[in-house]
Amino acid sequence: MQKKSLTKKVYIKTYGCQMNVYDSNKMLDLLHALGYEQTGELENSDLVILNTCHIREKASEKVYSELGSIRKFKEKRKASGNEMLIAVAGCVSQAEGDEIFVRAPYVDIVVGPQTYHNLPELIAKVSRDKKIALNLDFPAISKFDSLPETSLPQGYTAFLTIQEGCDKFCKFCCVPYTRGAEYSRNLSEIYREALNLVEQGAIEITLLGQNVSAYHGRDYEGNEINIAKLIEHLAKIPNLQRIRYTTSHPNDMTEDLSLLHKNEPKLMPFLHLPVQSGSDKILKDMNRKHTAARYLEIIKQYREACPDILFSSDFIVGYPGETEQDFEDTMELVRQVGFSLSYSFKYSMRPGTPAAAIEKQVPEDIKVSRLERLQALLTGQQNQINKESIGKISSVLFEKPGKYAGQILGKNQYSQAVCVIGSKDLIGKILPVKVEAVNGTTLTGVLV
Ligand code: SAH
Ligand code: SF4
Ligand code: F3S
Repeated sequence: MQKKSLTKKVYIKTYGCQMNVYDSNKMLDLLHALGYEQTGELENSDLVILNTCHIREKASEKVYSELGSIRKFKEKRKASGNEMLIAVAGCVSQAEGDEIFVRAPYVDIVVGPQTYHNLPELIAKVSRDKKIALNLDFPAISKFDSLPETSLPQGYTAFLTIQEGCDKFCKFCCVPYTRGAEYSRNLSEIYREALNLVEQGAIEITLLGQNVSAYHGRDYEGNEINIAKLIEHLAKIPNLQRIRYTTSHPNDMTEDLSLLHKNEPKLMPFLHLPVQSGSDKILKDMNRKHTAARYLEIIKQYREACPDILFSSDFIVGYPGETEQDFEDTMELVRQVGFSLSYSFKYSMRPGTPAAAIEKQVPEDIKVSRLERLQALLTGQQNQINKESIGKISSVLFEKPGKYAGQILGKNQYSQAVCVIGSKDLIGKILPVKVEAVNGTTLTGVLV
Protein backbone atom coordinates (compact mmCIF):
# COMPACT_ATOMS: atom_id res chain seq x y z
CA MET A 1 0.00 0.00 0.00
CA GLN A 2 1.23 3.45 -0.83
CA LYS A 3 2.09 5.52 2.21
CA LYS A 4 -0.28 8.43 2.67
CA SER A 5 1.43 11.81 2.80
CA LEU A 6 0.34 13.65 5.92
CA THR A 7 0.69 17.32 5.24
CA LYS A 8 -1.55 18.92 7.82
CA LYS A 9 -1.69 18.88 11.58
CA VAL A 10 -4.73 18.40 13.80
CA TYR A 11 -4.83 19.03 17.53
CA ILE A 12 -7.72 17.44 19.40
CA LYS A 13 -8.74 17.85 23.01
CA THR A 14 -11.35 15.53 24.51
CA TYR A 15 -13.60 16.25 27.48
CA GLY A 16 -16.24 14.10 29.15
CA CYS A 17 -16.95 10.41 28.93
CA GLN A 18 -15.36 7.48 27.15
CA MET A 19 -17.84 7.81 24.31
CA ASN A 20 -16.21 11.14 23.50
CA VAL A 21 -12.80 9.42 23.55
CA TYR A 22 -14.15 6.91 21.02
CA ASP A 23 -15.59 9.73 18.88
CA SER A 24 -12.29 11.64 18.98
CA ASN A 25 -10.46 8.55 17.70
CA LYS A 26 -13.01 8.24 14.92
CA MET A 27 -12.52 11.90 13.97
CA LEU A 28 -8.79 11.30 13.79
CA ASP A 29 -9.43 8.30 11.53
CA LEU A 30 -11.57 10.44 9.23
CA LEU A 31 -9.03 13.25 9.13
CA HIS A 32 -6.12 10.86 8.58
CA ALA A 33 -7.72 10.00 5.26
CA LEU A 34 -7.63 13.72 4.40
CA GLY A 35 -3.92 13.98 5.16
CA TYR A 36 -4.14 15.23 8.73
CA GLU A 37 -1.66 13.98 11.31
CA GLN A 38 -2.33 14.33 15.04
CA THR A 39 -0.12 16.74 16.93
CA GLY A 40 0.31 17.69 20.58
CA GLU A 41 1.36 21.21 19.61
CA LEU A 42 -1.65 23.44 19.50
CA GLU A 43 0.23 26.47 18.22
CA ASN A 44 1.33 24.78 14.97
CA SER A 45 -1.90 23.06 14.04
CA ASP A 46 -4.01 23.64 10.95
CA LEU A 47 -7.10 22.38 12.70
CA VAL A 48 -8.04 22.41 16.38
CA ILE A 49 -10.96 20.31 17.60
CA LEU A 50 -12.49 20.54 21.04
CA ASN A 51 -14.67 17.49 21.64
CA THR A 52 -16.81 18.82 24.44
CA CYS A 53 -18.95 17.66 27.37
CA HIS A 54 -22.12 19.34 28.65
CA ILE A 55 -22.87 17.12 31.64
CA ARG A 56 -22.16 19.69 34.35
CA GLU A 57 -21.78 23.47 34.24
CA LYS A 58 -18.05 23.35 34.90
CA ALA A 59 -17.48 20.97 32.00
CA SER A 60 -19.14 23.24 29.46
CA GLU A 61 -17.67 26.49 30.80
CA LYS A 62 -14.17 25.02 30.45
CA VAL A 63 -14.71 24.97 26.71
CA TYR A 64 -15.13 28.73 26.46
CA SER A 65 -12.02 29.49 28.49
CA GLU A 66 -10.07 27.04 26.32
CA LEU A 67 -11.45 28.68 23.19
CA GLY A 68 -10.26 32.05 24.52
CA SER A 69 -6.66 30.83 24.60
CA ILE A 70 -6.88 29.04 21.25
CA ARG A 71 -8.00 32.30 19.68
CA LYS A 72 -4.60 33.86 20.47
CA PHE A 73 -2.81 31.06 18.64
CA LYS A 74 -5.15 31.42 15.68
CA GLU A 75 -4.36 35.14 15.45
CA LYS A 76 -0.64 34.50 15.71
CA ARG A 77 -0.81 31.96 12.91
CA LYS A 78 -2.84 34.34 10.79
CA ALA A 79 -0.22 37.05 11.29
CA SER A 80 2.40 34.68 9.88
CA GLY A 81 0.17 33.85 6.88
CA ASN A 82 -1.16 30.52 8.09
CA GLU A 83 -4.64 29.29 8.80
CA MET A 84 -5.96 27.59 11.93
CA LEU A 85 -9.50 26.26 11.74
CA ILE A 86 -11.30 25.80 15.05
CA ALA A 87 -14.01 23.17 15.36
CA VAL A 88 -16.21 22.56 18.38
CA ALA A 89 -17.64 19.03 18.49
CA GLY A 90 -19.48 16.99 21.11
CA CYS A 91 -22.27 17.64 23.55
CA VAL A 92 -21.77 21.39 24.15
CA SER A 93 -22.16 21.87 20.38
CA GLN A 94 -25.39 19.94 20.37
CA ALA A 95 -26.75 21.81 23.39
CA GLU A 96 -25.70 25.33 22.43
CA GLY A 97 -25.69 25.24 18.63
CA ASP A 98 -24.97 28.53 16.88
CA GLU A 99 -24.81 30.28 20.24
CA ILE A 100 -21.17 29.12 20.16
CA PHE A 101 -20.49 31.38 17.16
CA VAL A 102 -21.98 34.28 19.13
CA ARG A 103 -19.88 33.69 22.26
CA ALA A 104 -16.76 32.72 20.31
CA PRO A 105 -16.98 34.27 16.81
CA TYR A 106 -13.56 32.93 15.82
CA VAL A 107 -14.92 29.35 15.82
CA ASP A 108 -15.24 28.00 12.26
CA ILE A 109 -17.14 24.74 12.65
CA VAL A 110 -19.75 23.44 15.09
CA VAL A 111 -20.59 19.76 14.77
CA GLY A 112 -22.58 17.39 17.00
CA PRO A 113 -21.97 13.87 18.33
CA GLN A 114 -24.15 12.37 15.59
CA THR A 115 -22.80 14.41 12.69
CA TYR A 116 -19.04 14.52 13.07
CA HIS A 117 -18.70 12.12 10.13
CA ASN A 118 -19.45 15.24 8.04
CA LEU A 119 -16.28 16.97 9.26
CA PRO A 120 -14.41 16.52 5.93
CA GLU A 121 -17.25 18.28 4.04
CA LEU A 122 -17.51 21.02 6.65
CA ILE A 123 -13.76 21.66 6.54
CA ALA A 124 -13.88 21.86 2.74
CA LYS A 125 -16.83 24.23 2.90
CA VAL A 126 -15.16 26.55 5.39
CA SER A 127 -11.88 26.60 3.44
CA ARG A 128 -13.68 27.17 0.14
CA ASP A 129 -16.38 29.65 1.11
CA LYS A 130 -14.57 31.30 4.04
CA LYS A 131 -17.78 30.97 6.03
CA ILE A 132 -18.65 29.25 9.30
CA ALA A 133 -20.29 25.81 9.12
CA LEU A 134 -22.76 24.10 11.42
CA ASN A 135 -24.19 20.59 11.36
CA LEU A 136 -26.20 19.37 14.32
CA ASP A 137 -28.92 17.21 12.73
CA PHE A 138 -29.88 13.88 14.17
CA PRO A 139 -29.51 12.12 10.82
CA ALA A 140 -31.79 9.27 9.74
CA ILE A 141 -28.77 7.23 8.70
CA SER A 142 -26.42 6.38 11.54
CA LYS A 143 -23.02 8.03 11.53
CA PHE A 144 -21.52 4.55 11.93
CA ASP A 145 -22.36 3.82 8.28
CA SER A 146 -20.07 6.65 7.19
CA LEU A 147 -17.14 6.13 9.53
CA PRO A 148 -13.96 4.49 8.26
CA GLU A 149 -12.44 1.41 9.84
CA THR A 150 -9.76 2.22 12.35
CA SER A 151 -6.38 2.41 10.65
CA LEU A 152 -4.50 4.15 13.44
CA PRO A 153 -3.09 2.07 16.29
CA GLN A 154 -5.55 2.05 19.22
CA GLY A 155 -3.31 0.45 21.84
CA TYR A 156 -3.88 -2.72 23.82
CA THR A 157 -7.11 -1.47 25.35
CA ALA A 158 -9.71 -0.10 22.98
CA PHE A 159 -13.20 1.37 23.16
CA LEU A 160 -16.04 0.25 20.93
CA THR A 161 -19.36 2.10 20.93
CA ILE A 162 -22.22 -0.39 20.60
CA GLN A 163 -25.11 1.80 21.70
CA GLU A 164 -25.75 5.53 21.58
CA GLY A 165 -28.16 7.97 23.11
CA CYS A 166 -30.72 7.63 25.83
CA ASP A 167 -34.50 7.49 26.15
CA LYS A 168 -34.59 7.44 29.95
CA PHE A 169 -34.80 11.18 30.60
CA CYS A 170 -33.55 11.35 34.16
CA LYS A 171 -34.66 14.84 35.11
CA PHE A 172 -31.17 16.16 35.86
CA CYS A 173 -29.47 14.91 32.71
CA CYS A 174 -28.68 16.55 29.37
CA VAL A 175 -27.63 13.35 27.55
CA PRO A 176 -31.01 12.53 25.93
CA TYR A 177 -30.90 16.01 24.37
CA THR A 178 -27.24 16.05 23.37
CA ARG A 179 -26.88 12.48 22.15
CA GLY A 180 -30.39 11.86 20.94
CA ALA A 181 -32.59 8.79 21.02
CA GLU A 182 -31.35 5.37 21.98
CA TYR A 183 -29.83 3.42 19.10
CA SER A 184 -28.07 0.03 19.04
CA ARG A 185 -25.63 -1.10 16.35
CA ASN A 186 -26.00 -4.53 14.82
CA LEU A 187 -23.86 -7.54 15.67
CA SER A 188 -22.22 -7.80 12.24
CA GLU A 189 -21.01 -4.20 12.38
CA ILE A 190 -19.76 -4.51 15.96
CA TYR A 191 -18.09 -7.85 15.32
CA ARG A 192 -16.26 -6.46 12.30
CA GLU A 193 -15.06 -3.45 14.28
CA ALA A 194 -13.93 -5.66 17.17
CA LEU A 195 -12.00 -7.92 14.77
CA ASN A 196 -10.34 -4.89 13.27
CA LEU A 197 -9.37 -3.53 16.70
CA VAL A 198 -7.89 -6.90 17.65
CA GLU A 199 -5.96 -7.00 14.36
CA GLN A 200 -4.56 -3.56 15.29
CA GLY A 201 -3.32 -5.04 18.56
CA ALA A 202 -6.16 -4.60 21.08
CA ILE A 203 -6.45 -7.38 23.65
CA GLU A 204 -9.06 -5.68 25.81
CA ILE A 205 -12.21 -4.06 24.45
CA THR A 206 -14.60 -1.93 26.48
CA LEU A 207 -18.07 -1.85 24.96
CA LEU A 208 -19.52 1.62 25.30
CA GLY A 209 -22.95 3.16 25.49
CA GLN A 210 -24.73 5.82 27.55
CA ASN A 211 -27.03 2.92 28.40
CA VAL A 212 -24.92 0.00 27.36
CA SER A 213 -27.02 -2.59 29.20
CA ALA A 214 -30.07 -1.45 27.21
CA TYR A 215 -28.31 -2.75 24.08
CA HIS A 216 -30.76 -4.42 21.69
CA GLY A 217 -29.14 -4.74 18.27
CA ARG A 218 -29.80 -7.42 15.66
CA ASP A 219 -27.84 -10.61 15.07
CA TYR A 220 -26.96 -12.09 11.65
CA GLU A 221 -30.49 -13.49 11.24
CA GLY A 222 -32.10 -10.19 12.16
CA ASN A 223 -33.20 -11.29 15.63
CA GLU A 224 -32.90 -8.87 18.50
CA ILE A 225 -30.11 -9.71 20.96
CA ASN A 226 -29.16 -8.23 24.31
CA ILE A 227 -25.73 -7.30 25.59
CA ALA A 228 -25.13 -10.74 27.16
CA LYS A 229 -25.62 -12.43 23.76
CA LEU A 230 -23.44 -9.83 22.08
CA ILE A 231 -20.62 -10.45 24.55
CA GLU A 232 -20.93 -14.22 23.98
CA HIS A 233 -20.34 -13.64 20.26
CA LEU A 234 -17.42 -11.27 20.78
CA ALA A 235 -15.77 -13.62 23.27
CA LYS A 236 -15.22 -16.02 20.37
CA ILE A 237 -12.58 -13.73 18.83
CA PRO A 238 -9.42 -15.71 19.63
CA ASN A 239 -6.93 -12.96 20.44
CA LEU A 240 -9.41 -10.84 22.34
CA GLN A 241 -8.69 -11.59 25.97
CA ARG A 242 -10.75 -9.16 28.01
CA ILE A 243 -14.20 -7.64 27.62
CA ARG A 244 -15.74 -4.84 29.68
CA TYR A 245 -18.85 -2.71 29.24
CA THR A 246 -19.94 0.67 30.53
CA THR A 247 -22.23 2.48 31.52
CA SER A 248 -25.07 0.32 32.75
CA HIS A 249 -28.43 1.37 34.12
CA PRO A 250 -30.11 -0.55 36.99
CA ASN A 251 -33.35 -0.93 34.99
CA ASP A 252 -31.67 -2.99 32.29
CA MET A 253 -29.64 -5.46 34.33
CA THR A 254 -30.58 -9.02 33.40
CA GLU A 255 -29.87 -12.35 35.00
CA ASP A 256 -28.12 -13.72 31.92
CA LEU A 257 -25.60 -10.87 32.11
CA SER A 258 -24.90 -11.72 35.75
CA LEU A 259 -24.44 -15.39 34.79
CA LEU A 260 -22.07 -14.40 32.02
CA HIS A 261 -19.82 -12.88 34.67
CA LYS A 262 -19.66 -16.38 36.12
CA ASN A 263 -19.37 -18.39 32.89
CA GLU A 264 -17.39 -16.25 30.48
CA PRO A 265 -13.78 -15.89 31.66
CA LYS A 266 -13.13 -13.06 29.18
CA LEU A 267 -15.79 -10.89 30.84
CA MET A 268 -14.06 -8.98 33.64
CA PRO A 269 -15.47 -9.10 37.19
CA PHE A 270 -16.29 -5.43 37.45
CA LEU A 271 -19.55 -3.52 37.09
CA HIS A 272 -20.03 0.24 36.89
CA LEU A 273 -23.65 0.75 37.90
CA PRO A 274 -24.65 4.35 38.65
CA VAL A 275 -27.28 4.68 41.37
CA GLN A 276 -27.29 8.50 41.82
CA SER A 277 -29.14 8.41 45.16
CA GLY A 278 -30.10 5.98 47.91
CA SER A 279 -33.39 7.75 48.67
CA ASP A 280 -36.49 6.35 47.00
CA LYS A 281 -38.13 9.76 47.11
CA ILE A 282 -35.22 11.38 45.27
CA LEU A 283 -34.91 8.46 42.83
CA LYS A 284 -38.58 8.91 41.99
CA ASP A 285 -38.18 12.68 41.61
CA MET A 286 -35.20 12.05 39.34
CA ASN A 287 -37.32 9.74 37.16
CA ARG A 288 -34.83 6.91 37.70
CA LYS A 289 -37.63 4.29 37.82
CA HIS A 290 -35.77 2.04 40.29
CA THR A 291 -35.64 1.95 44.06
CA ALA A 292 -32.70 1.61 46.43
CA ALA A 293 -33.91 -1.91 47.29
CA ARG A 294 -33.92 -2.92 43.62
CA TYR A 295 -30.38 -1.61 43.27
CA LEU A 296 -29.25 -3.69 46.25
CA GLU A 297 -30.98 -6.74 44.77
CA ILE A 298 -28.99 -6.37 41.55
CA ILE A 299 -25.76 -6.08 43.52
CA LYS A 300 -26.69 -9.27 45.39
CA GLN A 301 -27.53 -11.10 42.17
CA TYR A 302 -24.22 -10.18 40.54
CA ARG A 303 -22.29 -11.05 43.70
CA GLU A 304 -23.96 -14.44 43.88
CA ALA A 305 -23.07 -15.14 40.26
CA CYS A 306 -19.54 -13.80 40.57
CA PRO A 307 -18.40 -13.60 44.20
CA ASP A 308 -15.24 -11.57 43.55
CA ILE A 309 -16.93 -8.90 41.40
CA LEU A 310 -16.22 -5.27 42.34
CA PHE A 311 -18.64 -2.40 41.86
CA SER A 312 -18.39 1.26 41.06
CA SER A 313 -21.09 3.90 40.84
CA ASP A 314 -22.04 7.53 40.19
CA PHE A 315 -23.72 9.73 42.80
CA ILE A 316 -25.38 13.11 42.75
CA VAL A 317 -25.77 15.07 45.99
CA GLY A 318 -28.00 18.08 46.45
CA TYR A 319 -30.62 17.18 43.87
CA PRO A 320 -33.54 19.65 44.30
CA GLY A 321 -35.57 18.64 47.35
CA GLU A 322 -32.87 16.40 48.87
CA THR A 323 -33.18 16.49 52.66
CA GLU A 324 -30.62 15.44 55.24
CA GLN A 325 -32.55 12.15 55.60
CA ASP A 326 -32.45 11.55 51.82
CA PHE A 327 -28.73 12.13 51.89
CA GLU A 328 -28.37 9.76 54.84
CA ASP A 329 -30.21 7.12 52.76
CA THR A 330 -27.51 7.50 50.11
CA MET A 331 -24.79 7.07 52.75
CA GLU A 332 -26.57 3.94 53.98
CA LEU A 333 -26.77 2.43 50.51
CA VAL A 334 -23.05 3.05 50.07
CA ARG A 335 -22.34 1.34 53.41
CA GLN A 336 -24.37 -1.67 52.31
CA VAL A 337 -22.66 -2.12 48.94
CA GLY A 338 -19.00 -1.25 49.41
CA PHE A 339 -17.70 0.36 46.20
CA SER A 340 -14.18 -0.07 44.90
CA LEU A 341 -14.42 3.07 42.79
CA SER A 342 -16.88 5.93 42.49
CA TYR A 343 -17.69 9.24 40.90
CA SER A 344 -19.68 11.73 42.94
CA PHE A 345 -20.91 15.15 41.97
CA LYS A 346 -22.85 18.11 43.27
CA TYR A 347 -26.07 18.48 41.34
CA SER A 348 -25.52 20.98 38.53
CA MET A 349 -28.42 22.74 36.81
CA ARG A 350 -28.47 21.97 33.09
CA PRO A 351 -30.44 24.41 30.96
CA GLY A 352 -33.52 22.81 29.42
CA THR A 353 -33.66 19.80 31.75
CA PRO A 354 -36.76 19.46 33.98
CA ALA A 355 -34.79 19.55 37.26
CA ALA A 356 -33.34 22.95 36.39
CA ALA A 357 -36.87 24.39 36.44
CA ILE A 358 -37.52 23.25 40.02
CA GLU A 359 -37.71 26.36 42.15
CA LYS A 360 -36.37 25.02 45.42
CA GLN A 361 -32.73 24.17 44.81
CA VAL A 362 -30.38 22.95 47.54
CA PRO A 363 -27.99 25.72 48.71
CA GLU A 364 -24.37 25.42 47.58
CA ASP A 365 -22.89 25.13 51.11
CA ILE A 366 -25.11 22.12 51.86
CA LYS A 367 -24.13 20.48 48.58
CA VAL A 368 -20.45 21.02 49.40
CA SER A 369 -20.81 19.55 52.88
CA ARG A 370 -22.75 16.50 51.64
CA LEU A 371 -20.27 15.86 48.86
CA GLU A 372 -17.39 15.97 51.34
CA ARG A 373 -19.08 13.48 53.67
CA LEU A 374 -20.01 11.14 50.83
CA GLN A 375 -16.54 11.28 49.30
CA ALA A 376 -14.93 10.56 52.67
CA LEU A 377 -17.05 7.41 52.96
CA LEU A 378 -16.39 6.34 49.36
CA THR A 379 -12.65 6.97 49.62
CA GLY A 380 -12.57 4.94 52.84
CA GLN A 381 -14.27 2.04 51.06
CA GLN A 382 -11.90 2.22 48.12
CA ASN A 383 -8.88 2.23 50.46
CA GLN A 384 -10.30 -0.69 52.42
CA ILE A 385 -10.94 -2.78 49.28
CA ASN A 386 -7.49 -1.92 47.96
CA LYS A 387 -5.92 -2.96 51.27
CA GLU A 388 -7.76 -6.27 51.12
CA SER A 389 -5.91 -7.06 47.88
CA ILE A 390 -2.56 -7.12 49.67
CA GLY A 391 -1.14 -10.65 49.52
CA LYS A 392 -3.52 -11.66 46.71
CA ILE A 393 -2.64 -12.45 43.12
CA SER A 394 -4.53 -10.75 40.30
CA SER A 395 -3.92 -10.66 36.55
CA VAL A 396 -2.72 -7.36 35.20
CA LEU A 397 -2.82 -6.02 31.66
CA PHE A 398 0.18 -3.70 31.48
CA GLU A 399 -0.55 -0.54 29.55
CA LYS A 400 2.11 2.12 30.01
CA PRO A 401 5.16 3.30 31.97
CA GLY A 402 4.32 4.56 35.48
CA LYS A 403 5.17 7.93 37.00
CA TYR A 404 8.64 6.93 38.18
CA ALA A 405 11.51 5.35 36.27
CA GLY A 406 11.21 1.57 35.94
CA GLN A 407 7.52 1.45 36.83
CA ILE A 408 5.01 -0.19 34.54
CA LEU A 409 1.32 0.48 35.09
CA GLY A 410 -1.71 -1.60 34.23
CA LYS A 411 -5.15 -2.70 35.36
CA ASN A 412 -6.16 -5.96 36.94
CA GLN A 413 -9.38 -7.78 36.16
CA TYR A 414 -11.20 -5.72 38.83
CA SER A 415 -10.19 -2.41 37.19
CA GLN A 416 -7.78 -1.59 40.00
CA ALA A 417 -4.62 0.24 38.93
CA VAL A 418 -1.56 -1.95 39.55
CA CYS A 419 2.08 -0.99 39.25
CA VAL A 420 5.25 -3.14 39.19
CA ILE A 421 8.94 -2.51 38.62
CA GLY A 422 9.78 -4.04 35.26
CA SER A 423 10.85 -3.48 31.68
CA LYS A 424 8.79 -1.89 28.92
CA ASP A 425 8.44 -5.37 27.37
CA LEU A 426 5.67 -5.99 29.88
CA ILE A 427 3.42 -3.52 28.05
CA GLY A 428 0.68 -5.37 26.18
CA LYS A 429 0.97 -8.51 28.28
CA ILE A 430 -1.42 -9.95 30.87
CA LEU A 431 0.54 -11.38 33.79
CA PRO A 432 -0.11 -12.48 37.37
CA VAL A 433 0.98 -10.00 40.02
CA LYS A 434 1.11 -10.44 43.78
CA VAL A 435 0.01 -7.22 45.46
CA GLU A 436 2.35 -6.08 48.23
CA ALA A 437 1.20 -2.58 49.11
CA VAL A 438 -1.18 0.24 48.33
CA ASN A 439 0.16 3.59 47.24
CA GLY A 440 -2.63 6.16 47.04
CA THR A 441 -5.19 4.54 44.73
CA THR A 442 -2.60 2.32 43.01
CA LEU A 443 -1.68 -1.19 44.09
CA THR A 444 1.99 -2.05 43.91
CA GLY A 445 3.24 -5.60 43.54
CA VAL A 446 5.63 -8.09 42.01
CA LEU A 447 5.30 -10.43 39.06
CA VAL A 448 4.81 -14.05 40.07
N1 SAH B 1 -25.87 6.95 31.52
C1 SAH B 1 -25.28 6.95 32.76
C2 SAH B 1 -24.50 8.19 33.13
C3 SAH B 1 -24.44 9.36 32.25
S1 SAH B 1 -23.74 10.84 32.80
C4 SAH B 1 -26.35 6.66 33.80
O1 SAH B 1 -27.48 6.48 33.48
O2 SAH B 1 -26.07 6.61 34.96
C5 SAH B 1 -22.51 10.43 33.99
C6 SAH B 1 -22.84 10.87 35.36
O3 SAH B 1 -22.86 12.27 35.47
C7 SAH B 1 -24.20 10.44 35.86
O4 SAH B 1 -24.22 9.13 36.29
C8 SAH B 1 -24.47 11.43 36.96
O5 SAH B 1 -23.98 10.95 38.20
C9 SAH B 1 -23.67 12.64 36.55
N2 SAH B 1 -24.57 13.73 36.14
C10 SAH B 1 -25.39 13.78 35.09
N3 SAH B 1 -26.08 14.93 35.07
C11 SAH B 1 -25.68 15.63 36.15
C12 SAH B 1 -26.03 16.91 36.69
N4 SAH B 1 -26.95 17.67 36.13
N5 SAH B 1 -25.39 17.31 37.82
C13 SAH B 1 -24.47 16.53 38.41
N6 SAH B 1 -24.10 15.34 37.95
C14 SAH B 1 -24.69 14.88 36.82
FE1 SF4 C 1 -28.65 10.55 31.68
FE2 SF4 C 1 -30.35 9.01 32.96
FE3 SF4 C 1 -29.90 8.59 30.39
FE4 SF4 C 1 -28.02 8.05 32.18
S1 SF4 C 1 -30.02 7.04 32.00
S2 SF4 C 1 -27.74 9.12 30.26
S3 SF4 C 1 -28.31 9.65 33.69
S4 SF4 C 1 -30.88 10.36 31.27
FE1 F3S D 1 -20.45 14.55 28.57
FE2 F3S D 1 -21.79 14.07 26.39
FE3 F3S D 1 -20.43 12.14 27.57
S1 F3S D 1 -22.42 15.37 28.02
S2 F3S D 1 -20.54 12.70 29.70
S3 F3S D 1 -19.57 13.93 26.65
S4 F3S D 1 -22.39 11.96 26.56
